[in-house]
Amino acid sequence: MGNLISKGDLLITVYFEGSKKSKDEFEAILKFPLSDSLSASILVYEINAADDINNISVSKNKPVFLYITVKDRDIFSKAKSLKPSGILFPPLNTEIVNDKIENVYNAFYSENPNNIHDQEALKAKILAKAENIPPLPTIAKELVLLTTNEKADTKDIIKKIKQDQGLSSKVLKLVNSPFYGIRKEISSIDRAALLLGMSTIKNLALALTTQSFFAKDFAVYKTTGEKLWLHSFNTARICEAIASLEGGMDTDAAYLCGLMHDIGKTVLVDFMKSKGTSPELEKKQVGLDHQKVAEVILRKWGVAEYIINAIGNHHELSSGKLASVIYFANLIDHYPEDFNDLCETVAQILRISYYDLQPKINALIKDDENFGSI
Ligand SMILES: [Fe+2]
Ligand SMILES: [Fe+2]
Repeated sequence: MGNLISKGDLLITVYFEGSKKSKDEFEAILKFPLSDSLSASILVYEINAADDINNISVSKNKPVFLYITVKDRDIFSKAKSLKPSGILFPPLNTEIVNDKIENVYNAFYSENPNNIHDQEALKAKILAKAENIPPLPTIAKELVLLTTNEKADTKDIIKKIKQDQGLSSKVLKLVNSPFYGIRKEISSIDRAALLLGMSTIKNLALALTTQSFFAKDFAVYKTTGEKLWLHSFNTARICEAIASLEGGMDTDAAYLCGLMHDIGKTVLVDFMKSKGTSPELEKKQVGLDHQKVAEVILRKWGVAEYIINAIGNHHELSSGKLASVIYFANLIDHYPEDFNDLCETVAQILRISYYDLQPKINALIKDDENFGSI
């Protein structure tokens, strides 16, 4: 990947202000040349302490990235209030950093291909399509409602899953896959619920009922429907694991957040023309991003407002706890090689124990290796 675009071929230049050590680290991974002048196309400021933030002014005429090296919740929220184009933190992952810079650059500097009138019409079309998304299957609707209502009886839900033959056979197929590592074949939902817990079976059923929405060509997102669904499923499990350690969080709601976080792409995909994966590029092309579209779909499906809110902000390092859970779960699934550091940061932000979180996430990531066989 690094060799595809050699330094100097692109107009992007990066100005970095911070320690010599970090500057060298940036230089080592950037596909773009560093510049010593503030006239560079992208500015990056390193933040090592709260005071550093006071010296930064984020202007509207140039994209600014903040590189935060300290794991401190207050510094994160203070940095966020400056509304930078992006926040970066160690370890500097070559792919994440270059993609973010390129996406922000393209969105910021490229000309908008549509005129305002066309874009408004396109936006209206997309919103109408999101409004008219097919309803969730009845059973999924009930599962979703579990996160809005007082806890309904999970036993009742298991009973309903059993009544749906197609769904129960799909659940059993998944439960018997190498993914769960159960040696003896499980042939009933009751037995599966006994071995894996009712909540797991309920969430598996929910995940499986959303599969049909991903049955599309996702080439503009550089992926496939199957992969995007898998990513949603994995993100859901990581969200649930993180939330389970934070005393006040509803783990089912966190699971739902992970499962639905990219659902907006299932509508936007029909309107996107050039390949890209970032919300900035979506907005540039069609005037809306998949977070906004997800909000419309989920409201239509009767999902609780606080969940919609979190999903609507999952690409920002937000001060909201649930949105932060999705933000990190999404990154962990995309970049499992960085999971240790990502766990450390999310543990700090949510004030949970890294030592409890790390093994849980580690086990989930290991599981993923068995997932291809499904
Ligand atoms: Fe997303
Ligand atoms: Fe995602």
